[in-house]
Amino acid sequence: MGLNHVVSLAQSSTPFVASNFSSYKGQFWRRRARARARAKVVAFHGLTTPPYELDALEPYMSKRTLEVHWGEHHRKYVEDLNRQLEKNEQLYGCTMEELIKVTYNNGNPLPEFNNAAQVWNHDFFWESMQPGGSKMPGGGVLKQIEKDFGSFTNFREKFLEAAQSLFGSGWIWLVVKSREKRLAVVKTSNALNPLVWNDIPIIGLDMWEHAYYLDYKNDRTKYVNIFMDHLVSWHLVTARMVRAEAFVNLGEPKIPVA
Ligand SMILES: [Fe+2]
Repeated sequence: MGLNHVVSLAQSSTPFVASNFSSYKGQFWRRRARARARAKVVAFHGLTTPPYELDALEPYMSKRTLEVHWGEHHRKYVEDLNRQLEKNEQLYGCTMEELIKVTYNNGNPLPEFNNAAQVWNHDFFWESMQPGGSKMPGGGVLKQIEKDFGSFTNFREKFLEAAQSLFGSGWIWLVVKSREKRLAVVKTSNALNPLVWNDIPIIGLDMWEHAYYLDYKNDRTKYVNIFMDHLVSWHLVTARMVRAEAFVNLGEPKIPVA
């Protein structure tokens, strides 16, 4: 903070006299410290609303599922994270991505990691879908999938296999692998996500029971097929690929191709 600012703030409440400037400066800093001590931050990260109405994904994902999944589970992750962050000033001011990487702590997660990752994962999941999501990507995204998986059918099978072979709760991802410079399907357990390996998520599918049980009971295969056939927002996938390409050179073809 510059000297002029200090002076102007001091003047705002008390006439300034050059001879006792240091005393005013001291008062300013003491007032500032008291104000800071009184200011209690009660929330660090808000609950993000899905980018559509809660019934907009019906009949493929019911309003009831969204009410429970977003309104209860996602909300609880946010609230629990905020409660944890209240007690850890060192994490104040981190973006959600920074928070995930810092609390992952090189594979020795801090207590905040699970809630931070689950908040991010769910925001990403809601945005991975759209009402009337299409079955196939177009243009450059399709070409990149064909380049890295051989065909769209192969990609789809890999995604389904990953979901079927996931033990317990977790996530299935289409990612851009930063080091290998290619697309890949990966699965992660519990809250873990590919950001911790510096890979760039493109699609995220929630494979926790709360995501599908109300609509599909234990039929995970049906849930994944419905997701791939009716819910994926290839429009947003294209936008995410464009962003990813700013960080990772995927080579030809350029994405997106109009
Ligand atoms: Fe979930």
